[in-house]
Amino acid sequence: MADESQKWVLMVTAQTPTNIAVIKYWGKRDEKLILPVNDSISVTLDPAHLCTTTTVSVSPTFDQDRMWLNGEEISISGGRFQSCLREIRSRATDVDDKEKGIKITKKDWEKLHVHISSYNNFPTAAGLASSAAGFACLVFALGKLMNVKEDHSQLSAIARQGSGSACRSLYGGFVKWIMGKDDKGTDSLAVQLADEKHWDELVIVIAVVSSRQKETSSTTGMRDTVETSLLLQHRAKEVVPKRILKMEEAIKNRDFASFAQLTCTDSNQFHAVCLDTCPPIFYMNDTSHRQAPIISLVEKWNRAEGTPQVAYTFDAGPNAVLIARNRETAALLIQKLLFCFPPNSDADLNSFVLGDKSILKDAG
Ligand code: ADP
Ligand code: DP6
Ligand code: CO
Repeated sequence: MADESQKWVLMVTAQTPTNIAVIKYWGKRDEKLILPVNDSISVTLDPAHLCTTTTVSVSPTFDQDRMWLNGEEISISGGRFQSCLREIRSRATDVDDKEKGIKITKKDWEKLHVHISSYNNFPTAAGLASSAAGFACLVFALGKLMNVKEDHSQLSAIARQGSGSACRSLYGGFVKWIMGKDDKGTDSLAVQLADEKHWDELVIVIAVVSSRQKETSSTTGMRDTVETSLLLQHRAKEVVPKRILKMEEAIKNRDFASFAQLTCTDSNQFHAVCLDTCPPIFYMNDTSHRQAPIISLVEKWNRAEGTPQVAYTFDAGPNAVLIARNRETAALLIQKLLFCFPPNSDADLNSFVLGDKSILKDAG
């Protein structure tokens, strides 16, 4: 290691987009390792609109690992942050930065501490998958800093231990999280089904209904569901396995009718499972007077056209993610949304985020 009296700092910055599940992950079979009860499939969004930017730095002057999220220091003593740090550290290799004259050996990494600073350019903990972009970015950035040689799939299994949905943000395009069979979780990881160019006419419009932090975090919500919902057992064992196969076919064939039908049905069943939880979870209900029009607007439009134009999906929060079949449809959709939710009226939507190129690149 370079002389400790030298006040050097080595720094890496990474940027990772969020992802939105079209077949949802909801329920764990192992809380600590974050192993899910079913496979899930997602679309990775455009990092220009919804992404996390994380800078990780290391210096012999740092006396403990510390993290700042959106400018405020947060505790990282919890199991999830510690798992990610431990797993990446154990895979660290020698770093030789000739330009800065810094040499760090594998052994040095055991003693050195890191500082992490992360920003989300979209609402945190509001049902737009900040935990997904956040932990994927953290693992990717730490991996780069510590010269970890693992591929994206292996990194995804580490990000999974930060937040389940994070494993899918290591890849762009359409991504599947394979639930895996192994008790240790080595085979529970993400694979890319199709890259960002495969279906690039899709446009994703996010209607931000509320950027407030949700009352029930995804982690707590799905724990209660696993403990109390019989519907979840049926969903995980009977419904999702078949739906995953159909969704993979729809994506491969760019079959929008099937893609939209599966996406909307799965979102609705996920919220039904939340309602079947004791006590029931209402991720959509507290803004239902604003949201219901979005669902019925899309349902009516799709029926009138005879074939789906737009798919909707809602995560664990009130914000609508709308996937339009092409740019023309997206423009019409925005017109319709503006008509239903005129700016400065009571029934307002806060804002729209338009994913122009909709499906973008891999993490980093
Ligand atoms: P969301 O719907 O936004 O994913 P969750 O309840 O799943 O909400 O997760 C929110 C939590 O994710 C935050 O409380 C925080 O612990 C973590 N998180 C959010 N953003 C980041 C980030 N940039 N880096 C690390 N962790 C993050
Ligand atoms: C509704 O990945 O946030 O967004 O693993 O406990 O961190 P933890 O939960 P998280 O749950 C995401 C749930 C979802 C659906 C999905 O992204 O598949
Ligand atoms: Co989350």
